[in-house]
Amino acid sequence: MSGAAPRVRVFPTTAALAQEAVRSLTSWAQQAVGDHGRFALALSGGKTPATLYELLAAAGPGALPYDRIEVFWSDERAVPPDHRESNYGLAWSAWLSRVPLEARRLHRIRGEGDPETVAADYEIELRHTLGDPPHLDLVLLGVGRDGHTASLFPHDPALRADRLVVAVSAPVSPRRRVTFTLRLINAARHGLVLVTGRHKAAAVRRALEGPPSPASPASWLRGPHVVWLLDKTAAAGLRGRSIAARGAEGKRAVSD
Ligand code: 6PG
Repeated sequence: MSGAAPRVRVFPTTAALAQEAVRSLTSWAQQAVGDHGRFALALSGGKTPATLYELLAAAGPGALPYDRIEVFWSDERAVPPDHRESNYGLAWSAWLSRVPLEARRLHRIRGEGDPETVAADYEIELRHTLGDPPHLDLVLLGVGRDGHTASLFPHDPALRADRLVVAVSAPVSPRRRVTFTLRLINAARHGLVLVTGRHKAAAVRRALEGPPSPASPASWLRGPHVVWLLDKTAAAGLRGRSIAARGAEGKRAVSD
């Protein structure tokens, strides 16, 4: 996903943003299954995707080809799956426990294990499930107020890793984590970056209007297959160089 600038779309509310995320994810799922018989997606952590997960659950068992889906996570904290900080836990309770997805299609990062071992095992699981090198159809991502994405934090050596999955020590709790690297993220067919909230506006502007930099891991989420969905408050810092239009619901804004 590296290279040309990403597409950026701005929405007046988080509800409208989540509805567009459902539309995009559903469309990419149908394309992927039609093209190669499977839809492999990685879910992000954090709380932003909760509304998306709830809409997907409410859409019912027929909304997605659940018998052709493989679900991964782009990162996980070193906590058990029932911990309140578990990225798996949020997706499971809000969505995956409420749809007909076989357990073998749920590829949980085992947060309860040793992060270095878990990272190595997860990389093997990705290659075994998706081929080598593994190409996900969709990686869902969020952005922190410091510009981190997945669990790739500013200036972390993991940003230069050749591997696909690594263990990191985050500057915020929970500190021990397992994360996709940019190499795996940028090999995906589609990236969908969901960001809401005024407190993210500076990080969004730095990511979309500054040069790619280790100071802003999200600034490496670029390329024609990356779509950023922002609510108006998260987009408030943009100076128009990265979007052609702003504000109208879902008005397509193509980066310059
Ligand atoms: C994590 C996430 C992280 C998250 C951002 C945004 O495990 O923390 O993967 O990258 O997406 O921190 O989090 P919110 O959606 O909670 O703002």
